Amino acid sequence: MKVGNQHFRSIWHDAASGAVFIIDQRWLPHRFETVEIDTLDEFATAIREMWVRGAPLIGVTAAWGMAKAVARDPSDTSINSAWEVLHATRPTAINLAWALNRMRDHLIPHPVEERSSLATRLAIEMADEDVEINRQIGENGLQLIREIAFAKPEGSAVNILTHCNAGWLAAVDWGTATSPIYHAHNAGLNVHVWVDETRPRNQGALTAWELGSHGVPHTYVVDSAGGHLMQNGEVDIVIVGTDRTTRCGDVCNKIGTYLKALAAQDNRVPFYVALPSPTIDWKVSEGVKEIPIEQRGGSEVRRQLGRNIDGEISEVAVPPDDSPVGNPAFDVTPARLVTGLITERGVVQPSEAALLEMYSDLA
Ligand code: MRU
Repeated sequence: MKVGNQHFRSIWHDAASGAVFIIDQRWLPHRFETVEIDTLDEFATAIREMWVRGAPLIGVTAAWGMAKAVARDPSDTSINSAWEVLHATRPTAINLAWALNRMRDHLIPHPVEERSSLATRLAIEMADEDVEINRQIGENGLQLIREIAFAKPEGSAVNILTHCNAGWLAAVDWGTATSPIYHAHNAGLNVHVWVDETRPRNQGALTAWELGSHGVPHTYVVDSAGGHLMQNGEVDIVIVGTDRTTRCGDVCNKIGTYLKALAAQDNRVPFYVALPSPTIDWKVSEGVKEIPIEQRGGSEVRRQLGRNIDGEISEVAVPPDDSPVGNPAFDVTPARLVTGLITERGVVQPSEAALLEMYSDLA
């Protein structure tokens, strides 16, 4: 997507120099900064400390981290240790293990002297695949938004609520939950997005920045506003992303998603999840019991980052210093609360039978 007049992906490779660059998301929306990451340690830090974030982008970044490690040392030991280091960065998004397994399984059978170029080629392929998957999610989600638009009085906006940032910054391009929104906006449909702030990391500010850069009408709201908006008929559809979806359709996503799903059900608002196939964990059935939920450091809750009146980025303390804090980063929305999963192959019911039918080749 565009930043100013220039097209960016969230991660990219300079073919001439071999360098890999990312947008350092810690400073957005206040400062747009790109940075080269090169060593295994830098890739692990970038994922763990959320310079990059969002399930699909975490996966592709890990693939590049593995490729860079293999360029330095293509041995089995190096591949296995890169797998361990990168896998330990964040526990919830399954795209991380998916990408690392795919790289490792592809490289190990080949002679060491071929591995570096194969790893680079596969990392490029995985990034391009992610863009295409999300473009298709956009096409499929566009149909849902179109149906809602046709059922509304002419000229009135389709109001979409989203949580966290499942935008192009969280993937390689397009985003997952935002892709149907961008497609609808590009198709000339009148859409308006309610953007949840998404405490404590405020990923909603990233979503607002993205939507604003693309000219999509939106309103930034605090996390607790969604129920009220739904009760008052101000939300036509909820579309969120996911970090891991079980084979039975339970959806793990950013903390607070479950409460939005409960409010949506109570108010008969359709609740959709944009789901790229690499985010399905075929080994897991029951989300609440089986998905590891990342517990992040308390400093994210204690302190908020923002821009002060002098225009500088700085932190302020929020709760009393001596109050204990908790910071679960994700929650699970049971399949029964999900209206449908918007995948690259079409919209599917959140059930084991429907997912297996659609993905018989992958499951
Ligand atoms: O902690 P984050 O910012 O990595 O969490 C991101 C989310 O929860 C997104 O909604 C999810 O990864 C889907 S991204 C297309």
